[in-house]
Amino acid sequence: MDLMEAINTRTMVRDFLDQPLKEEEKQLILESAIRAPTAGGNEQWYFVAVESKDSLDGLHKLLVDAQRAYFTEMLKVPWPKDQIEKWEKKVEAGLYKAPFYVAVFTDMRARYYTRSDVEERWAEQSAAAAIENMLLAAHGMGIGGCWFGVPLLMEDKFYEFFKVNKEEMRLVAVLAFGYPKQKPSPRQRKKSLKEVVRSF
Ligand SMILES: Cc1cc2nc3c(=O)[nH]c(=O)nc-3n(C[C@H](O)[C@H](O)[C@H](O)COP(=O)(O)O)c2cc1C
Repeated sequence: MDLMEAINTRTMVRDFLDQPLKEEEKQLILESAIRAPTAGGNEQWYFVAVESKDSLDGLHKLLVDAQRAYFTEMLKVPWPKDQIEKWEKKVEAGLYKAPFYVAVFTDMRARYYTRSDVEERWAEQSAAAAIENMLLAAHGMGIGGCWFGVPLLMEDKFYEFFKVNKEEMRLVAVLAFGYPKQKPSPRQRKKSLKEVVRSF
């Protein structure tokens, strides 16, 4: 797939077939992560590949809890009860259940700068670039992916789950990957280019 086509057709996939990814596909996704640009060339990122059945089940449960917190606590206008019930039915049918997840952290064990606040933002930006690389690499192989930011709403539960020391590694996101149940169409943008770009 041509690069512009990949960028223009990528869209988040949340419903996956119950079918494992091939080892080489998982490897290519992870390799694409570390090909991303990284601030200062410092590679302050760390990835946990989740692939055993128990870990996949445990992480799916946590993601559902975090997503529920988003709908009920994070949104200024929380979802009404009937909408939550409809969503719960989709969760029961396997929404967000993936054969492969990648948790993305910034690795702040080694520090290189005098300004730790800026360093942390740069590390997070590098991790975000790695995330987009993984999503695009997966998409190019016909694999759907979803970027989950909701773990930050209950991050301590995720540090506990991943057995990660939060003083050293900061959770950025969890990504889900799998073969899509349906071929999703790319989502329209609400704002036009004109609204978000100013020539100067
Ligand atoms: C930082 C970030 C966090 C996100 N977190 C979630 C999430 O927790 N759950 C989810 O279902 N989608 C999440 N998404 C996906 C967005 O909802 C999605 O990118 C957006 O609706 C645009 O759709 P598209 O990526 O399919 O074009 C996140 C995306 C980003 C960039």
